[in-house]
Amino acid sequence: MSTSSSSAPSQYKVRAASPFTAELVVPGDKSISHRSVMFASLSNGICDIDGFLPSADCWCTVEAMRAMGVQIDVLEEGEFGPTKLRVHGNSGRFEAASGPVNCGNSGTTMRLLSGILAAQPFETELYGDESLSRRPMDRIAGPLSQMGAVIEGRGDRCMPPIRITGTKDIQPIHYDSPVASAQVKSAILLAGMFANGKTSVSEPYLSRDHTERMLKYLLVKTVREGNTVSIWGGQTPESRDLKVPGDLSSAAFWIVAAAARPKSQLRVREVGLNPTRSGILKALIRMGARLKEIVDDENGEPVGSVEVNGGELHGIEIGGDEIPKLIDEIPILAVAGALAKGTTIIRDAHELRVKESDRISAVAENLRRMGVTVQEFADGMEITGGAKLKGATVESLGDHRIAMAFAVAGLYAEGETIVKDVDCVSTSYPGFEQELKQLIG
Ligand code: S3P
Repeated sequence: MSTSSSSAPSQYKVRAASPFTAELVVPGDKSISHRSVMFASLSNGICDIDGFLPSADCWCTVEAMRAMGVQIDVLEEGEFGPTKLRVHGNSGRFEAASGPVNCGNSGTTMRLLSGILAAQPFETELYGDESLSRRPMDRIAGPLSQMGAVIEGRGDRCMPPIRITGTKDIQPIHYDSPVASAQVKSAILLAGMFANGKTSVSEPYLSRDHTERMLKYLLVKTVREGNTVSIWGGQTPESRDLKVPGDLSSAAFWIVAAAARPKSQLRVREVGLNPTRSGILKALIRMGARLKEIVDDENGEPVGSVEVNGGELHGIEIGGDEIPKLIDEIPILAVAGALAKGTTIIRDAHELRVKESDRISAVAENLRRMGVTVQEFADGMEITGGAKLKGATVESLGDHRIAMAFAVAGLYAEGETIVKDVDCVSTSYPGFEQELKQLIG
């Protein structure tokens, strides 16, 4: 197999690969990197963050906090950018940015920041790239308006750019979220940290709990009962150093690449194994993958290794409360479904329609181009697995996870696969292409 990228537009060229043996560490977790910078900024002193993900998305969060007056120093640079930061927390006393704040491609930056800004006594405009400008912000604008902020965006669904007029008099609420979304939950909890009283959020299924875990580590109390999380206002995070584990969502590409190939062996070390994120591992085990999770550190976030011995996979049904636990891995799970014997059915994943791209239609279209039979539903798809994949030209649609999922599909296809428009991969996984070349040779 070989990969290559050329300038304007960038693309991967991938060919079928042989079984591989590898041990690797993936870059820092994206969700945790965003939160580490925001929560350290809210804290009462200096926090050093180790293992920060030097990706375009996370860098937007750093620049946004700097624009609001937070001093953030780069202590160490890795191959792809800053990996150790020092954040000088200001106990939640931010300055108004001097102009609109760029959130790039990052929904997490825009939605979590909105929670903080809802409680600041000034106006801020947040904007993003083309993809982010198509994503609905009504899901945070609704509850944050109930708390007293004024949030305006484009159209019925409050699309970016959005203008937030915050208030020092933010009110506690209880909010029943119609979607299981950690971004919505976190935005409300962050605003609630400034309110006088108890703020709580219920969600239909439990979403990732990085916010609750990091707040606890920084000595801010939240309580979870079932799918409801509550916070009491007036708490300031205690400054403490933070360590970001490797991103399981990035590791997932190599885990699937190894799991579906007999004789491949892979060990991913120092990776986050938070159970609200590790649905991909459980789903792959149900598909017959020979895979082991070994947790060796439980300090705040469970961290450990994943060991994979390649073999044959079979199709399964995925839906209900497991969806939030593997929401970002559905593109690569769909590829696993195409490689598995039998049918894989994904349901209850409407949320995929409003990610960086419409991931249901992007995955279905690209799999079809590779010769796979796929039936698309409003909330998922049915994939008929087991047919030999054919190399094809596929589109990333500017979506990092689509680009990486189909680079992996190309490793299993007859002939050459061209994945177009892959610059977007730097939003979550700088170094993906280098790893691909090194792993597969
Ligand atoms: C994220 C939550 C998820 C996920 C996204 C990151 C987070 O989004 O898809 O990539 O860091 O909170 P939703 O909250 O929209 O489910």
